[in-house]
Amino acid sequence: MLVQFKEALDLLKKGHLVAIPTETVYGLAGRIDLELTLRSIFETKKRPFFDPLIVHVGNIEQVQDIFFEITKAQKILMDHFWPGPLTIVAQKRRIISDLISADLETVGVRMPNHELTLKLINELKVPLAAPSANMFKKTSPTCPDHVLNNFDNSVSVLDGGDCRIGIESTVLEVKDKKVLVYRLGQITIEQIQEVLPEYKIKKVKKDKSPGSMNDHYQPKVPLYLIKNQDDLKKFKGQTGEELILDQSAAISARILYKSLIDLSNLGVDYIYFNKKNIPKDPQWLAVKDRLEKASTKI
Ligand code: TXA
Ligand code: MG
Repeated sequence: MLVQFKEALDLLKKGHLVAIPTETVYGLAGRIDLELTLRSIFETKKRPFFDPLIVHVGNIEQVQDIFFEITKAQKILMDHFWPGPLTIVAQKRRIISDLISADLETVGVRMPNHELTLKLINELKVPLAAPSANMFKKTSPTCPDHVLNNFDNSVSVLDGGDCRIGIESTVLEVKDKKVLVYRLGQITIEQIQEVLPEYKIKKVKKDKSPGSMNDHYQPKVPLYLIKNQDDLKKFKGQTGEELILDQSAAISARILYKSLIDLSNLGVDYIYFNKKNIPKDPQWLAVKDRLEKASTKI
């Protein structure tokens, strides 16, 4: 059910979960200092415990209690991109639960760019662990209705409207003079390079980044990526709908998950998207990554 700010705050205080709005996607949030709460995040999503959670902070001071230390490079990234769609992974303090970090020595932190959620975390005075508010491997929610449908109305949702960005944050870790990018979001490698000119920025292969799988974000019916109409011949007798995106990468990101969810609710057998519609532009890499992971091989 939808809840107001005050109720969301009370529920979180007591250790319950609340779905929170962010600029990227809705998150299924719980306070980071209660093991039972953290456990219920995984159980509600049917998420395996090897997939680490992102911690959401309301101010930079909170990071001091989460990271073992804050380096100059990390501070530069925070100053440039926070609040915003950038998750920074770094050595964690021992007090941070192993459930959050999936037994790794590191933890991912970001400051979401959403007024309501920042206010919520700052009034609670405890950071929130929040994965995207969808069942494991399924499409991430970009509005309150998506969250309500994902969990059959059983989750409390704080209504913060539609997500402005629409795909998950860029996740990275600074190591020596390198920046390892585990997941691309709206913030591109070029933007990171600009603020850290002396660092080598490397995109890490999918199978090397924790919790990252090749079959994520999957809609209810298969999504096929095609090169031309002929690729659809083998689905004769079935009904398909085309996914249409925009010419702008930012707008495409914003409508991607909503379009996949809407199309799969039409009662068609499959969705298709022509790969030729994706320009070879760094801005498009994150959308391309989500399309690939959401798709089923023909
Ligand atoms: O935009 C977002 O990041 C959204 C909103 C809710 O903030 N959250 C989100 O969380 O996408 P989730 O749980 O769906 O994705 C978290 C991913 C993990 O699967 C993993 O790939 C990466 O973040 N991650 C988290 N902690 C990590 C760590 N210690 N090392 C490497 N990757 C990590
Ligand atoms: Mg997710």
